[in-house]
Amino acid sequence: MSEFTSFVVAGAGNLGVFIIQELVKLKKQGKIASVVVFTRSNDSHEKILRLGAKPINVNYSNPDQLAHALKGVHCVISTLAVSAVEFEKEIARACKAMEVRLFVPSEFGLPKIDHFGSRKDEVKRYIKEIKQPYAIFYTGAFSDLIFTPYAGFNWDDGKVRIGGSGDQPASFTARPDIARYLAYVLTELSAEELENKIFLIEGERISFNAIFSGWEARTGRTLQITRIPRSELEKESPANFGAHLFLEIDNGNGTVGAPEETNLYYPEWKPKKALEVLLG
Ligand SMILES: NC(=O)c1ccc[n+]([C@@H]2O[C@H](COP(=O)([O-])OP(=O)(O)OC[C@H]3O[C@@H](n4cnc5c(N)ncnc54)[C@H](OP(=O)(O)O)[C@@H]3O)[C@@H](O)[C@H]2O)c1
Repeated sequence: MSEFTSFVVAGAGNLGVFIIQELVKLKKQGKIASVVVFTRSNDSHEKILRLGAKPINVNYSNPDQLAHALKGVHCVISTLAVSAVEFEKEIARACKAMEVRLFVPSEFGLPKIDHFGSRKDEVKRYIKEIKQPYAIFYTGAFSDLIFTPYAGFNWDDGKVRIGGSGDQPASFTARPDIARYLAYVLTELSAEELENKIFLIEGERISFNAIFSGWEARTGRTLQITRIPRSELEKESPANFGAHLFLEIDNGNGTVGAPEETNLYYPEWKPKKALEVLLG
């Protein structure tokens, strides 16, 4: 058994489902004892039960109810939506009150970029202020989620649109790989090795231009690439998530950190490269 055996995942959304799946696998192997998922309503129950976890309805604004739901829990992983991260302060406060050993806030992006009006930074400040032990995971962009036509990547039509030069490297990781990494370190490392630590992971560090030329080489097709100049990106408000992200990547802020500090603690972790994810 691992040191932490009782897990709560808050939110079973785009990322959460993968983490729940990995924890449930560990439960089946007898490595951990319970995987509970916090949700706001019965609407998510079927999905959570299908994943093999136990749903519990919580009102994130009700401290007593939250604390009750955290009785005996060792580790809480929040994968709440960006729009809900302010509730993480309530979760952290309840964790502290109930002596939950570790809280993982819903970060899962890039350390130098907070696109969300510093809401995530505010949560981190609060967790440190109340001295709730935490672990933070930076993962770069989700390679299995972001390369969509909506975001400007229309692979079927051979048309892609990016901001900036496309030359700067960025970190990309697929959600199943993120989930495997989290589940592994949270159950293999000691509490001391986890507490108040920052984990930097990436499936691959690569530039958009290198992804495009790799795609062309693998498919034998030629991409029509539109590049929005920096001057245009700079005119956009910070609320324009895509423009802000491209600008920050172009500024050199698209990686999770120094390569030698990345992908530590799990030598057998073999995450997929961006092209592998893209081409299936
Ligand atoms: N690096 C990247 O490329 C990338 C991409 C996407 C997301 N992310 C990050 O990953 C984390 C999780 O994002 P996600 O896309 O997985 O989240 P999501 O699917 O949008 O939402 C996760 C869950 O949050 C709960 N939720 C939604 N709105 C809420 C609200 N107003 N109040 C309380 N709970 C609410 C919902 O659960 P219930 O309805 O069951 O309560 C939902 O299933 C975020 O920190 C996000 O920034 C990173």
